[in-house]
Amino acid sequence: MTVFYKGFPQSDRNQAIKMVNVDELEERVKKVMPEAAYYYIASGSENEWTWRNNTAAFNHFQIIPRSLTDMDNPSTDTKFMGMDLKTPVMICPIACHGIAHKDAEVATAEGAKAAGALFSSSTYANRSVEDIAGATGDSPKFFQLYLSKDWDFNKMVLDAVKAAGYKGIMLTVDALVSGYREANLRTNFTYPVPLDFFTRYGKGEGMSVAQMYANSAQKIGPKDVEKIKELSDLPVFVKGIMNAEDAYLAMGAGADGIVVSNHGGREIDTAPATIDMLPEIAAAVNGRVPIILDSGVRRGSHVFKALALGADLVGIGRPFLYGLALGGAKGVESVINQINNEFKILMQLTGCKTVEDVKHADIRQINYTADNLPSNTDPAVRKPYPVTKDNQLEGTQDAVSGASKH
Ligand SMILES: Cc1cc2nc3c(=O)[nH]c(=O)nc-3n(C[C@H](O)[C@H](O)[C@H](O)COP(=O)(O)O)c2cc1C
Repeated sequence: MTVFYKGFPQSDRNQAIKMVNVDELEERVKKVMPEAAYYYIASGSENEWTWRNNTAAFNHFQIIPRSLTDMDNPSTDTKFMGMDLKTPVMICPIACHGIAHKDAEVATAEGAKAAGALFSSSTYANRSVEDIAGATGDSPKFFQLYLSKDWDFNKMVLDAVKAAGYKGIMLTVDALVSGYREANLRTNFTYPVPLDFFTRYGKGEGMSVAQMYANSAQKIGPKDVEKIKELSDLPVFVKGIMNAEDAYLAMGAGADGIVVSNHGGREIDTAPATIDMLPEIAAAVNGRVPIILDSGVRRGSHVFKALALGADLVGIGRPFLYGLALGGAKGVESVINQINNEFKILMQLTGCKTVEDVKHADIRQINYTADNLPSNTDPAVRKPYPVTKDNQLEGTQDAVSGASKH
């Protein structure tokens, strides 16, 4: 169940995870992950307001039920940038999956492939883009670039990514320096498993987050977007857009898409939730390029609202990493399926047969106090009961036909 990389414990599980929601995984993962690794994932910057508010802010929007629609069997299949996907849920780029599992990004990509989801790999991945592509063939994959000050490094990375058959680049622009993350300081977090592109380029393992960011460019402008497009010859999405002005600049520089993200609340604390900024960014983009939204997505309803408010795909970060630690590739698949199944229930209940229909669903912003109510996944309000062998859920049920109707 556990193997060691130079003394660092890594999961080697590969099993589906039983769960009723993805929030509960954050508690369960503590049993299989060292403290510094857990806090590296499960934390945000400063007082962590943005981190928490990212999820809570989805309550600012309400889904209007639709009933007399004469519709059944909704499908979560979707097409994105020419890729056929089984779900609009995607895997966000996250550094160092080796803190969660010995097979690191290879296992995550296998889980994404099994769920039919778009996978994206970080510049700070442990495993090489060639290893990941070798294990998963031509399943849909994007690559996230942290622009380095060193353009030889950028070119080496982009050449490898392109040769490995990745379908697009996400250029991250919101993390020019690391946010002030106290949890990393308290636990003296350093990346315990080497990061492939840095090993290739002769920088060693055991780097702190601050050292990693010192390598990356602290200034990025529209010209860099143009240059990355030219060098990679792939579609380039700009990740970390939180206002209309930056969306215009990205599109003006030829960006093929944008990612509305606040880095999961890890950079500017008290930055607004992504879902609150999405409507005005979507209005500025006005359908010219596709939009991905991430940060705080934990529920099918969050996916539904993001799509209805202008996103084309919706990214999840921390939950899939917990799935990876608890169940390897199959755990990642379980997490994506869980959120996708919740999403599918809502498609049925709103008369949306396709993901395209969801993009036109009726979402309102009614200003009442729903957002002050606690979530039922908050440990303080959860209603636990003894779970016995008899009342555990078995496997993953089909979301619509398998769900209780009462
Ligand atoms: C542990 C961790 C590492 C991350 N590493 C990267 C990274 O290497 N590159 C990047 O663009 N974003 C990175 N992110 C941000 C994610 O891509 C994504 O924006 C965020 O996790 C979404 O929020 P969520 O975790 O609340 O779903 C990281 C996030 C976490 C939690």
